[in-house]
Amino acid sequence: MTLAPLLAAPFAIQLHALAAISAFALGAVQLAAPKGTIPHRAVGWVWVGLMLTVAASSFFVHTIRLWGPWSPIHLLSIFTLAVLPWAVWAAHRHAVDRHRRAMTGLFFGALVIAGLFTLMPGRIMHKVVFGG
Ligand code: HEM
Repeated sequence: MTLAPLLAAPFAIQLHALAAISAFALGAVQLAAPKGTIPHRAVGWVWVGLMLTVAASSFFVHTIRLWGPWSPIHLLSIFTLAVLPWAVWAAHRHAVDRHRRAMTGLFFGALVIAGLFTLMPGRIMHKVVFGG
């Protein structure tokens, strides 16, 4: 493992990866911890901020160019930006089941899946984790 490829990457990629890894760690804690408490709300807002940073910063990253400068993963960023406010709104309305499904869906469906795709050969996180 080496951080060198990430340290040599443009700022947008560094910010994106740092926010994504932090969101993964904090999200795992949030899913395991008691729900509806004041810490759950505080950690939840930080997690939402991190996910907004992950999605927004990705619009400045263009290493996979499938449609002009854009990649299919950018669709996931748009999806994340749409679902996040909806999931927060569900919590605000005490629609607990909708809130839980939307947030766990974002964690596993966006963060974990996109995170696993970053480990594909040739990508920066592959070099970070496996070297080379
Ligand atoms: C633990 C999770 C994640 C990590 C470690 C991560 C890391 C990275 C890195 C290092 C890149 C730069 C390109 C490369 O891989 O060489 C990248 C690109 C990108 N990521 Fe993520 N990411 C994660 C999650 C996400 C999520 C949740 C989204 C969407 C909401 C996302 C959207 C994108 C997009 C759109 C790109 C640009 C694709 C391209 O043109 O290269 N990522 N990611």
